[in-house]
Amino acid sequence: MADAGYARISEPKTGEEFERYYDLRWKILRAPWNQPRRSERDNLEDESIHVMCSGNSGVLGVGRVHFNSADEAQIRYMAIDESQQGRGIGGRILLELERRAVERGAKYVILNSRESAVGFYRRHGYEVAGDAPAMFGIMHYRMIKNL
Ligand SMILES: CC(C)(COP(=O)(O)OP(=O)(O)OC[C@H]1O[C@@H](n2cnc3c(N)ncnc32)[C@H](O)[C@@H]1OP(=O)(O)O)[C@@H](O)C(=O)NCCC(=O)NCCS
Repeated sequence: MADAGYARISEPKTGEEFERYYDLRWKILRAPWNQPRRSERDNLEDESIHVMCSGNSGVLGVGRVHFNSADEAQIRYMAIDESQQGRGIGGRILLELERRAVERGAKYVILNSRESAVGFYRRHGYEVAGDAPAMFGIMHYRMIKNL
């Protein structure tokens, strides 16, 4: 696996890049709960901003942001390859998603975090605003950050 420091942040563009992007999303966020391929997508993909981090060995991490209103952006589907977690890739993707949301006029960003990821988002300035619907039996929290 490539060193995370040398990994490159970009937007997937080609069909092949998108396949690898969705594949990692599925592998980390859906496959462990026996969810079928394509269950990792929703109906907002076309209008969303997609960011991935790639190294020599392929896609190491992914994340997405979309708009719920002119002011409100929502981050979803943050997923880092298991072997690459804790090396700063998630932080880099999150900052890039926030940067792109600000560029398009977002005033704040919301997300629903798994209980296990709340600490990660707190470190990046997010606060818990309440409970969010559980998914696959995992407790989720609504988190918010002013941009
Ligand atoms: C949660 C996730 C996106 C974080 O990405 P990552 O690349 O592992 O995190 P980073 O290495 O960028 O961590 C950045 C900081 O957050 C901290 N951090 C990371 N995960 C954390 C956690 N679960 N709890 C507390 N702190 C955490 C790191 O220690 C680091 O702090 P530092 O900068 O002071 O050293 C990633 O681990 C992941 O994909 N997990 C599985 C899927 C998931 O839970 N996705 C989120 C769904 S809401």
